[in-house]
Amino acid sequence: MNRPRVTVVGAGNVGATTAQRIAEAGLADVVLVDIVEGLPQGKALDLAEAAPVMGHDARITGTNDYADTAGSSIVVVTSGLARQPGMSRDDLLAKNAGIVRSVVEQAVKHSPDCILIIVTNPLDAMCHVAMEASGFPRERVIGMAGVLDSARFRTFIAMELGVSVEDTHAFVLGGHGDTMVPLPRYSTVAGIPITELMTPERVAALVDRTANGGAEIVALLKAGSAYYAPAASTYEMVDAILGDRKRVLPCAVHLEGEYGVNGLFVGVPVVLGARGMERIIEIDLTAEENTAFQRSAAAVQELVDKLHV
Ligand code: NAI
Ligand code: 2OP
Repeated sequence: MNRPRVTVVGAGNVGATTAQRIAEAGLADVVLVDIVEGLPQGKALDLAEAAPVMGHDARITGTNDYADTAGSSIVVVTSGLARQPGMSRDDLLAKNAGIVRSVVEQAVKHSPDCILIIVTNPLDAMCHVAMEASGFPRERVIGMAGVLDSARFRTFIAMELGVSVEDTHAFVLGGHGDTMVPLPRYSTVAGIPITELMTPERVAALVDRTANGGAEIVALLKAGSAYYAPAASTYEMVDAILGDRKRVLPCAVHLEGEYGVNGLFVGVPVVLGARGMERIIEIDLTAEENTAFQRSAAAVQELVDKLHV
């Protein structure tokens, strides 16, 4: 069988767990890349040795050489520094911009037709770096954040109401930062808006917990940040693209007039398929929601301005 190839750059917590999910689902052969010698090779070998037990035949290899990534359909970028306690996503800006730029330049040289999924923080600003470094059209540069933030919101809704997570649906738009915009009106349990199922106070509490979902995990772990849910969210995007599934998922994409925003990566609902970001879905926002969305876009713009890209 000729399986597609997915490269995951950064063999740390998010990268290795993403590689594991992709391989164990038999979605693609995976190439793990890291700057640290031995790390991607060691993790890839360990994952390969789990394959007989897990019952899949996906090939997992590790390398420090981008030539080994040639012909990848998707390149997932997780390389960079993770947040530490007391460190904001924004503190990561300059360091991670340099890493993302160099990684993307090297990866696209060997996979010029790939779709880039960016994970490194600060997410929305790193998407700008990746778009510029690759020269790719916006359809092929997509940021992972909204799927994760929405998954967190869904988890909290299910916990609150004592229902299956499967019956929950949620949309979190805006930048991947404290100004993100969870939309209770579009967040449902079996199609029923949560605003009809809980008090405004409880809705507000869940919205607040979602916006601080990353920081909550950082505070608990004390070293490093979340990776199981981020890896699962990245896997969902890879699955949607490789399977041409036309999934409607909130992702960070380059807005060019949509939602009244121009030239900025911000999280909005999109259709994900074989061509990457195939369509942006514009939903009506109330005046209050729109104000929050524009505030979140402004926070992204502030970071991008610091990058001078
Ligand atoms: P980690 O520290 O476990 O892994 C990062 C890996 O990147 C390390 O193995 C490191 O050696 C590697 N690396 C550093 N510079 C590199 C380079 N130039 N080339 C190749 N590899 C390089 O961190 P973790 O937990 O995996 O997080 C990775 C990134 O993802 C962080 O920036 C984190 O903030 C971000 N993140 C974003 C989320 C989102 O929703 N967008 C969610 C979770 C994490
Ligand atoms: C998160 O939301 C750190 O951005 C990462 O968990």
